[in-house]
Amino acid sequence: MNRKVKISGVEMYVPPKVLTNEDFEKMVDTSNEWILERTGIRERHIVEKGVANSDLASEALKRLCNSKGITPEDIELIIIPTVTPDMFFPSTACRVQEKTGAKNAWGFDISAACSGFIFALATAEKFVRTGVHDRVVVIGSEVMSSIIDYTDRATCVLFGDGAGAVLLEPAEEDEVGLIDFICKIDGSGGKFLYMPGGGSLNPPTHETVDKKMHYVHQHGRQVFKFAVKEMANVSIEILEKHNLTPKDIKLYVPHQANMRIIKSVAERMGLDESQVIINIDKYGNTTSATIPICLYEATKEGRIQKGDYVLIASFGAGFTWGAGLMRWEI
Ligand code: ACO
Repeated sequence: MNRKVKISGVEMYVPPKVLTNEDFEKMVDTSNEWILERTGIRERHIVEKGVANSDLASEALKRLCNSKGITPEDIELIIIPTVTPDMFFPSTACRVQEKTGAKNAWGFDISAACSGFIFALATAEKFVRTGVHDRVVVIGSEVMSSIIDYTDRATCVLFGDGAGAVLLEPAEEDEVGLIDFICKIDGSGGKFLYMPGGGSLNPPTHETVDKKMHYVHQHGRQVFKFAVKEMANVSIEILEKHNLTPKDIKLYVPHQANMRIIKSVAERMGLDESQVIINIDKYGNTTSATIPICLYEATKEGRIQKGDYVLIASFGAGFTWGAGLMRWEI
């Protein structure tokens, strides 16, 4: 079987607590001006102590079910891309299945950092395309605040917590739906963005904690350069493969890591500002959640209509990167 697949619903959830740039001025040696100018971020949402990834993901899933008029029991598969699972095991998908009562679903987590949502969507659509499942959800969900060193000014201002969920179903019409994905990795980039502690290489000890190995470590400039080049390249590659040009795209939805990365990519591609969504000012970098959160806001704001070409693209730790092309359905 080879069915057309569409994103038939999208929702999001961010925790209520907000950390502004002014809050960071009191925590580390930084300024609102530096953060805004170098990253485009004004504020980000952060969980209260005790709130886990599965709480955010479950709320996003419940909202998705409400907005679609279905129940969690109607879901057949839950895929959660994340680098901040509740714990190594059980998977966050198992936790969400229990918390939401999605008792007919199986599921698993995917680790691809900021490209997690695209890698998960590319995986999820195969289950619908081949007729294995009719209702699959992908929930990009992160509690980045759990792996951030709030004394390191170079990383702590960048990240936020949040979740975005999409529902995949078979598309009845040929003109709408997911068209293609290109996903790539290059392990040689691993040394530029990583969390060295807590896994089998460096299991948790007092020493790993003292050395702050359980936090995000990033060489910002190297990541920045690679991100601009490869996100633009993969976006052009998928368009050319389908005989499209950037002008054909109604909305470009790039991973939200840095406003300057987004603007440089858009410039390289020759996109007009009106074709690009940027909401990093409100949420910071929520890793696997940025793209579904953007898709939700774009839909709510009427920026995309049925039949419009939408191009999503990401870049993240690994290195991982990719692009997804679709014609919008909702
Ligand atoms: N406030 C004030 N000064 C700061 C801050 C801050 N919050 N952070 C860094 N600086 C300083 C640095 O210490 C440095 O000072 P120095 O010159 O005295 O040493 C100076 O600013 C410049 O530092 P750079 O790191 O070169 O700054 P840059 O302009 O590159 O911006 C940033 C840093 C925002 C991290 C940028 O490099 C970036 O966005 N990189 C890419 C991030 C990304 O895309 N990550 C991938 C996705 S994340 C994932 O997959 C989990």
